[in-house]
Amino acid sequence: MKAWTIQTHGSLDGLTLVEQTQPAPAKEEVLVRVRAVSLNFRDLITIEKERSGNLPPPLVPCSDGAGEIVAIGAGVTRFKVKDRVAGIFFRDWVEGPFEMKYHECAVGGSRQGMLSEFVTIPEHAAVGIPALLSFEEAATLPCAGLTAWQALFTRGELRAGHTVLALGTGGVSIFALQLANAAGARVIVTSSSDEKLAHAKELGASATINYRTTPDWDKEVWRITEKGGVDHVVEVGGPGTLGRSMNSVAAGGHIALIGVLTGFGAPDTGLFPLVARNARLDGIYVGSRAHFEALNDFLTQHRIRPVIDRVFPFTEAREAFAYLHSARHFGKVVIRVD
Ligand SMILES: NC(=O)c1ccc[n+]([C@@H]2O[C@H](COP(=O)([O-])OP(=O)(O)OC[C@H]3O[C@@H](n4cnc5c(N)ncnc54)[C@H](OP(=O)(O)O)[C@@H]3O)[C@@H](O)[C@H]2O)c1
Repeated sequence: MKAWTIQTHGSLDGLTLVEQTQPAPAKEEVLVRVRAVSLNFRDLITIEKERSGNLPPPLVPCSDGAGEIVAIGAGVTRFKVKDRVAGIFFRDWVEGPFEMKYHECAVGGSRQGMLSEFVTIPEHAAVGIPALLSFEEAATLPCAGLTAWQALFTRGELRAGHTVLALGTGGVSIFALQLANAAGARVIVTSSSDEKLAHAKELGASATINYRTTPDWDKEVWRITEKGGVDHVVEVGGPGTLGRSMNSVAAGGHIALIGVLTGFGAPDTGLFPLVARNARLDGIYVGSRAHFEALNDFLTQHRIRPVIDRVFPFTEAREAFAYLHSARHFGKVVIRVD
């Protein structure tokens, strides 16, 4: 079978298509023929830098994939051959609160990833795909979809009538828009592109702000919300955006601290706005299988289909990553494995 592997870190040139031995499912594992893989910003970071805790090269990248079961190991009870499944991000986080040991089972990092024709998955780490979704759509859920879900619903306890601020129009933020909208929340979306903002409006955004032409976007959020602020911020920017996110949040509101689009450093501002608002800053790291199953139920109930910008063939994985890196996408970038 073929798999893409990171042979050296630093650039996409280190990503190489290799021939590997097709694995056989061990006890309580399923063998999945991968049909689609979606890309996350985290996969770009993994290719770029050798990070402590990650497997050394050759490392198969990507946490997110979906496919069909083609063989099952002894003792498998949850699935059968031909079932359509997606793998979960933290292979052993089935339910309950997060534990630090789960960092040792992060797919496409501390465990081999999904950008491969076949993978074995412990049966406890697979979830069935909602009937309305294609393999490409289901492949967008394990990281981006689940993170937006955990941020807004599990941890944020979002309710109808709440207001959400989603930063940018990448994978996590567009999921946040779709999910919050379906739950009856108002969503404000920011972007560097007026074209992408028009697309966000079509998807149900109640207000939009171009953060390039309106660098004081927090003041615009304040104006739009009539000086009330937003109940939730989907904070994917990190240190470069956190200050304005804190200025945007309502009294008693919730900032889901998710991303590092502006880096891993210290925030460029003090933290007092949080205190002044009695607001919550909540670190979010993907979610468990139980959260994933709740997300799937919600998608089915509301007939929500993930937004896919482009699908690349398996042979063009480097081009797919380059496209993600260019940030021209809206929603998700997917690789079809066939
Ligand atoms: N903690 C977790 O569990 C978790 C899970 C998933 C992702 N993440 C992190 O969350 C972040 C987003 O991930 P993703 O996969 O959704 O990324 P992505 O799809 O690559 O999103 C890229 C988009 O982010 C927007 N963006 C970039 N810089 C921005 C800024 N300074 N302010 C506002 N928006 C900005 C841009 O949108 P426009 O083109 O519209 O301007 C860009 O197109 C990444 O840092 C990722 O590592 C964390």
